[in-house]
Amino acid sequence: MRIYIEKDYDAMSRRAAQVIAAEITHNPSCVLGLATGSTPEGAYKYLVDWHKKGCLSFKDVRSVNLDEYKGLEPTHDQSYRYFMQFHLFDHVDIDPRNTRVPDGLTKDPAAHCAEYDAYIRSLGYVDLQLLGVGRNGHIGFNEPGDCFVKETHVVDLAESTIDANARFFATRDDVPKQAISMGMGAIMGAKKVLLAASGAEKADAILGCVCGPITPRCPASILQLHPNVVIVVDEAAGSKLKAAGVPVCG
Ligand code: GLP
Repeated sequence: MRIYIEKDYDAMSRRAAQVIAAEITHNPSCVLGLATGSTPEGAYKYLVDWHKKGCLSFKDVRSVNLDEYKGLEPTHDQSYRYFMQFHLFDHVDIDPRNTRVPDGLTKDPAAHCAEYDAYIRSLGYVDLQLLGVGRNGHIGFNEPGDCFVKETHVVDLAESTIDANARFFATRDDVPKQAISMGMGAIMGAKKVLLAASGAEKADAILGCVCGPITPRCPASILQLHPNVVIVVDEAAGSKLKAAGVPVCG
């Protein structure tokens, strides 16, 4: 793992955006695995800015998103499809036909999940997978549990995740209780993984991810088995790494 500890959210976002932009520049038709949540918003702003300045084109990029709330229509302002349109897709030259987000309204979740995995396989897997991390160590919506789940699947959200995400909804009751999430097979099948985090409430998850036991109780810990992971955090999220003496790049 290469670990960058940046001074604040903006510096973390810029570093994450640089890794993504480098991937696109190196391979203009790359497959990006994309994430939602407050963590990647800043990185997407940088990417949009660089696109508007003429430095970066998404013309041939293909994208697959990690997850979607079950039961939210794509036009719902808290759906992850809406998030992606709002923060990235509507502002760059990506071909809408090349963007995929799981369908939260699917009538046949099992078939939809199998199709999602088949699509990722048909692309030759993801070139660069962007991840945030939940306070409980979840990646995508792979919640802590007894085993790692390989395939795209329907997830019952942890109470702590519902609590954490309630800030985006009018009331806690409005937070969907289930989601569709890419599984560990697609995430670990990515050629490169970029995990970003900011804020002190992520410090334990980052410590568990980087040097805790590899266990489905902390899903992000599986990344210790991936050969090409870049972790970009701000000082607050990286504080426990520093205290543990983990070597970092910057
Ligand atoms: C959400 C998403 C994750 C995200 C995480 C952290 O529930 N499913 O993909 O990485 O939780 O979100 P945030 O970046 O808002 O802290």
